[in-house]
Formats: sequence, structure tokens, C-alpha cells
Amino acid sequence: MAEDPVNVNEYQELARQVLPKMYYDFYAGGAEDQYTLKENVEAFHKITFRPRILIDVSKISLSTTILGYNVSAPIMFAPTAMHKLAHPEGEVATARAAAACNVIMILSYSSMCTVEEVASSCHAIRFFQIYVYKRRDITAQMVQRAERSGYKAIVLTVDVPKLGRREADIKNKMIAPPLKNFEGLLSTQAVSDKGSYLEAYADSTLDASLSWKDVRWLRSITKLPILIKGVLTHEDAIKAVEAGVAGIVVSNHGGRQLDYAPAGISVLEEVVHAVKGKVPVFVDGGVRRGTDVFKALALGAQAVLIGRPVVYGLAAKGEAGVRRVTEMLKDELELTMALSGCPTIKDITRGHVITDRERLH
Ligand code: FNR
Repeated sequence: MAEDPVNVNEYQELARQVLPKMYYDFYAGGAEDQYTLKENVEAFHKITFRPRILIDVSKISLSTTILGYNVSAPIMFAPTAMHKLAHPEGEVATARAAAACNVIMILSYSSMCTVEEVASSCHAIRFFQIYVYKRRDITAQMVQRAERSGYKAIVLTVDVPKLGRREADIKNKMIAPPLKNFEGLLSTQAVSDKGSYLEAYADSTLDASLSWKDVRWLRSITKLPILIKGVLTHEDAIKAVEAGVAGIVVSNHGGRQLDYAPAGISVLEEVVHAVKGKVPVFVDGGVRRGTDVFKALALGAQAVLIGRPVVYGLAAKGEAGVRRVTEMLKDELELTMALSGCPTIKDITRGHVITDRERLH
């Protein structure tokens, strides 16, 4: 692609051109038939606008607060694993871009830079995502290291008791690269006779016995607020609030775990209604346009998370690419707000969108 990308989707093509196939497939791929992967994007296409007119939109503000932190836009970087496969500077470059754009970065438990390296490289507001390992002592240590390094929240990802079946990774015999956070604590030298080394690593480390009582355990070892990521039903949203979480991320893990799980945006309202405003609700999966961000906010999300767009920006142009991707989404959101008659984030309401379900009635 000779010209500069004009939208986030074009960054995907740039990333495809620069990355080795194994890594591109790892970032882009989903589980099994990849139904959910596609549905994440298509579900946004089924929501249209009810724009309002003749409202003064000469000044637009995207700024908002997330868990009390002032940010420039209702967009956070989702935790995504292993950024050094995309760019040699890895998560440090991503964090610098988050700082430059004044958005929150959620660092993945499976990062290739350590929590301390990322913390000392920039002043971005950072949350830390965790998986719970069979070796609970390691997870507890990681939570404490994040707390000491100034991360502001723990994001507990709950949709990976086992790794989803990602067939491209199996075919490519996807590697399990060294994760510096766990150096000296755990071997990342996974042995695989099945294909994906990543799957073998996940099998040997992840604690599939994780259950609701463990949220209590997590609360007992940290003072940080806990967000739970991977909720897709009103039943679990209610349980999460009862378990004392500070926020819910509606997510199907970017279509990489349970195939035929619904798109987050399709079940967002169900969760928002169940939660009754007690904690903020966030959503991810398939956000590629400013219009998508607007739709999520109209359906009750406080902010969205973006996963692959960040990785594609990083692969294509390092920190500058991540900044550009973020600015593109912010610019598009600003335009959407202007064209819908919403000068501030608070002006975006349920009445500004119509879903395909409503249209059928
Ligand atoms: C992820 N995701 C993820 N989630 C998490 O909690 N911990 C992790 O380490 C990862 N790693 C990861 C790697 C890659 C390459 C992808 C694409 C995704 C899921 C991620 O946080 C988020 O839920 C989705 O990426 C959102 O969907 P989009 O924006 O990628 O469509």
C-alpha cells in the first residue's frame, strides 16, 4: 500500500505486509470457524443512527472519566499478548502511544516487556490484566508487582479456562516466546506434539478450576479495583457485581475463545440493564470506526477497548502507528458526534441509535 492509511482497517493490510505469516495469523485469527470473529465486526453494521439536527456542535469534547481518571476519549487499549512479535520495542512503544494520546492502556499478563519496564517508560494511566495460573503464588506476585509499579486496576480475564482452538496457530506451530515477567519463575519452553506451542504453554499454566470464589481471593490480595473481562450474559453480570468488582468488560476475547459466542455489542444492553448502573460497563470486539465507539456508548458502555487495531498500528509503524490508529478513531468519533448532534459524551443517548432487532418490530 503506497499511500498512508486513511482508516484503521487499512492498518491491518499494512501489518499483514510487514509481519511474518505466523505472527500475522496469531494476531488476526480467531477460533475454529471464526464466526464470532466476523460477527464482532458485522454486529456493528446492524446498528444505525437516529441523528439529531440543529444542535450547536461547533465545539465537541470527547473527554470523559474512567474509574475516576480523566482521559481524552472513551477508548482504552485492550490487553493483547506479546507485542515484541509486532515491533522490537513491544509494549513500551504501545504504552508511550497511550500516554501521548491520554488514553488508558491495559497491559497483558502475557506481555514481553515487564510490568516495571512499561511503568517506567511513560506516564500513561495503566491497568494490568491477569490470568490466574495454577501457580497462584506467581499470579499473586504479578498483582503485587503491578500494584507497586503504579498500575491503577486489575483486569481479571475469565474467558480462558483453556485456550480457544485457533487453527492457524496449530498449522503454523505458533511459538510460545519468552515472557520476561515470568523469568526465573516459570519456564515458557512449552512442549507440543499437537501443533501450537502457545496452546501447550496455556495448558500447562492456566488454572481451569478458577471460579467465583477466586474473585474473593483476588480481592483479598490487592487493594486495587478489579474489573472482570469476559462477561456475556446478564446472569454473570449480576454475579460479578455481587462479587464486588469495580467494572465489567463485555467481551468474547476478540473471537479467539468460544466460537459462536455472541458479539459483545449484541449483548451489551443485556448486561447494562442487569448491572443497573452499580458499576461501569465496557465492551470490546470489532471496534474499527468512530461510529462503532459511538454505538457502544449509546447502548450503555462507558468506554470501548480496542485490541487488534493497536497491534496493527504497532506492527506497521511502532509507537507512531499506535498513536495514528488512536487519533483516527478519535477523529471519527468527533465527526460522528458532530453529525449526530452530540457535543459531549454525556449527550450520547440510547435514542441516537436503532438496532436491527428494533427495526424488525
Ligand atoms: C487478545 N486478547 C487478550 N485478552 C486478554 O485478556 N489477555 C491477553 O493477553 C489477550 N491477548 C490477545 C492477543 C491478541 C493478538 C488479540 C487479538 C487479542 C483479547 C483482547 O483483550 C480483546 O478482548 C480483543 O482483542 C478485542 O477485539 P478486537 O478489538 O481485537 O476486535
